[in-house]
Amino acid sequence: MDRFVITGGQRLTGEVAVGGAKNSVLPIMAAALLTDDEVVIRRVPRLRDVASQVKVLQSLGARVLHDEKQGILRIRCDDATPVTAPYELMKTMRASICVLGPLLAKRKRARVSMPGGCVIGVRPIDLHLRGMEQLGATIEVKAGYVEAHATQLRGTIQFLGSSAGSTVLGTANVVMAATLADGETILENAAQEPEVVDLCRVLQKMGAQIDGIGSHCLRITGVPRLHGVDHAVIPDRIEAGTFVVAAAITGGDVTVRDCEPRDLLALIERLRAAGVEITVGPTWLRVAAPRRFRPIDVTTLPHPGFPTDLQAQLMALLTTADGISMVHERIYPDRFIHVAELHRMGARIRKEGATAIIEGVPKLSGAPVMASDLRGSAALVLAGLAAEGETTVDRVYHIDRGYERIDERLRRLGARIERRKSDVAPLAMAAAGG
Ligand code: EPZ
Repeated sequence: MDRFVITGGQRLTGEVAVGGAKNSVLPIMAAALLTDDEVVIRRVPRLRDVASQVKVLQSLGARVLHDEKQGILRIRCDDATPVTAPYELMKTMRASICVLGPLLAKRKRARVSMPGGCVIGVRPIDLHLRGMEQLGATIEVKAGYVEAHATQLRGTIQFLGSSAGSTVLGTANVVMAATLADGETILENAAQEPEVVDLCRVLQKMGAQIDGIGSHCLRITGVPRLHGVDHAVIPDRIEAGTFVVAAAITGGDVTVRDCEPRDLLALIERLRAAGVEITVGPTWLRVAAPRRFRPIDVTTLPHPGFPTDLQAQLMALLTTADGISMVHERIYPDRFIHVAELHRMGARIRKEGATAIIEGVPKLSGAPVMASDLRGSAALVLAGLAAEGETTVDRVYHIDRGYERIDERLRRLGARIERRKSDVAPLAMAAAGG
């Protein structure tokens, strides 16, 4: 169990390169279940969630070679017998639910544990299940497991959405199932997130027929079989965005390299409104921060709107803006677990329903705080970098789930951050995030 000890007040400068996207890699790994051939995935970040997904695939008979140094995964799923993804593995990470669609499509049967609760909100999987049922699967939820079978999935027209809009992993799951179904599936209100686009491109390379990639309407014509693929995943836009905010919050001047600025337009627009100077290159962003930030309002929305996965980090920055900012959380109304910890650092934030009203203070002050979810932990680290004095962030295994060696990389930009052993027990370890 580790913690970070941060001495705030250092201006970040220099360059940082972004790794492969966690939320692309995880569903793409599940797509390997759709073929007997080898699936090679490159630019794989070294993350706890990737290691967890490897274990899920191995429990389903996959042979996996993971060259962590080179960031390459080789996965072969030619043993089609196992169909059970057990609770012990599923409980650690929500993205593991992505095995449901491929198992049903290829093995015609799946027994997959419900992924379990999560500190950022309830996170149901009803849309995943409804999508599979509409493709002709029979589904029962028994003793915490989704038991699904189908003789052959059949294409349909379906609307895939909730009151919060589209579903990212739900779209991934249903698209993967539809690639091997009989006939055409039309998915209205499909998620348009770059990670869904990346998955669809992989499936196309495997021989799937998918039209409308990147739009809200996907048309999938089923094929009898898919083949192997060699694919490098897209850059992680949330990691890139986190470094952008880290540069801004410390008054720094940082170039974030190897990223896709088009995937970050909503963040760029909001930061510019707050007074941050951002220069956009083809694969890089340069951030030059002002002395003080202007207050802004932000609403999280499905892509291309402002991502919920950057809400906490932006909130950390707004705690020291010159005035009152508002953050409306439209995807996960309860995703405010970081608010109480930011209070401990002197932030003034009032929560009303799914809105946080942030009254900027001149400076945060360092304090001991506790991480309890991935992006919330990143926000606490950013707050610590900007605060006066020392901040300790406990339970950083949350941050290790989604950011590769973030402490080392921040240090190279001039941050004073150290990883130390902690004496706090891993209480929340079982909560399924991601
Ligand atoms: C993905 O989760 C990401 N995870 C999350 O990132 C991200 O916050 C989220 O998309 C939204 O962008 C991965 O890609 C691994 P959703 P996902 O289904 O797909 C409701 C991170 O920090 N809903 O798009 O599970 C749901 O409650 C993580 O990296 C249903 O009602 O999210 C939410 O309000 C955290 N029923 C909304 O839809 C369902 O069956 C969007 O959720 C499914 C979702």
